[in-house]
Amino acid sequence: MPDTALPATDRLLDALRAIVGASGLLTDPADTAPFSEDWRRLYRGRTPAVVRPGTAEECAAVVRLCAETGTRLVPQGGNTSMVGGAVPAEDGSELVLSTARLNRIRALDPVDMTLTIEAGVTLRAAQLAAADAGCLLPLSISSEGSAQIGGVLAVNAGGNNTVRYGNARDLVLGLEVVLPDGQIWNGLRRLRKDNTGYCLRQLFVGAEGTLGIITAAVLKLVPQPREVAVALCAVPSPEEALALFTRFQAHDPAAISAFEYMSGPGMGFVLKHIPGATLPLSAPAPGYVLVELATPRPDAGLRVGLETVLEGALEAGIVLDAAIAESEAQRAAIWKLREEHSEAQKREGASVKNDVSVPVSKVPAFIAEATAACEALIPGVRVVPFGHMGDGNIHFNLEQPEGAEAAWFLAQDHAIMDAVNEVVRKYDGSFSAEHGIGKLKPYMMPDWRGGAELALMQRIKAALDPLGIMNPGKVLP
Ligand code: MLT
Ligand code: ZN
Repeated sequence: MPDTALPATDRLLDALRAIVGASGLLTDPADTAPFSEDWRRLYRGRTPAVVRPGTAEECAAVVRLCAETGTRLVPQGGNTSMVGGAVPAEDGSELVLSTARLNRIRALDPVDMTLTIEAGVTLRAAQLAAADAGCLLPLSISSEGSAQIGGVLAVNAGGNNTVRYGNARDLVLGLEVVLPDGQIWNGLRRLRKDNTGYCLRQLFVGAEGTLGIITAAVLKLVPQPREVAVALCAVPSPEEALALFTRFQAHDPAAISAFEYMSGPGMGFVLKHIPGATLPLSAPAPGYVLVELATPRPDAGLRVGLETVLEGALEAGIVLDAAIAESEAQRAAIWKLREEHSEAQKREGASVKNDVSVPVSKVPAFIAEATAACEALIPGVRVVPFGHMGDGNIHFNLEQPEGAEAAWFLAQDHAIMDAVNEVVRKYDGSFSAEHGIGKLKPYMMPDWRGGAELALMQRIKAALDPLGIMNPGKVLP
């Protein structure tokens, strides 16, 4: 096996330049620095070069060269990973392969309801392309302005609409992948039915770039909603938030397109740090729910339904106050309060994230018990649970105690995550709901996925990437 820890030689860089052209290769440390660090600034690596292929063929030629020379590479899209999944190693031995120039929309078929798109297109650009054709790409995440489709699929992103449409993997009909030996697998089929052996595309979705590089995908679209109704509700606690969810489900389960919980402290950070953020309610509350209903039906009467459920919930004391968006601008302003949660938390100070899931019915108990566990572990810690309550995925994030040292707080991340995960385990949950494993959580894999499951993953990795050149150190311990 070649010595993969060797730094890139001038010969290798020349060969890469010959493939992608001078503008496709960045080697100046000032240019490569943004690709070497994650947006949370938790991981800083080094790389001799960022390679930016403009086509799948160029990408394949780059990977072939890497396989021949035993050079390790880290695929990177919008670099929005929450778990350091796209950061190169600190020893400078890994190339970064950026998918940013693979940014074409290859086809959109409004009859088949499919979008064929390259890896470097941002999720927002993909949503807009679908909307232009009168369709909806039903995937929405806070980082959608920068996150690229390749990365979104590589981590099987979830986001705000999972309650209705599932995760990224549920939207994938076909993939084009550059394999670790440099072959291109063209699996860009756009069929709803295709039972022809192992479902290979699902192997690459969620593999976080450890089995190959997704260069293009066929995504499923759905009809664009004709009516959308959004409300922000103040709630006394997560229990009432769950009670509100069950009321909406009882009313019309097919109408719920998002059901998001936010805590009082998390909303406080947004109002404090995000310019233009205002609370459209009479007073701050212990918790909040953002509910979005949407339907393609012309006669669904969503607005009336929303008001009926909210009136009942107000009378029952489940909801303390509510604001219904009256315009697209108000809808966007309410969503902004939710989507800026991570950014606001970052501005407030150091945070430890726990992207976990439990059965929906257990979310309130999980929040209560995990809060008690963390407060006992770190007196003064600020607990900021928020997220996708409608699908059971809570971002149980912890903010450093006021006045504490950020480094001291971050050094306790394993103890915090262990305390939270103990409660997650009690409720048969997952230690990583939608952010993936990246560099942050491989050490948890033996404990949570050990035995036959992890052994099988390791065999798949060894079979597809025997040289271990694809995103080393991520996902598998
Ligand atoms: C979100 O849903 O906004 C992100 O996944 C959350 C996070 O900061 O953990
Ligand atoms: Zn999320």
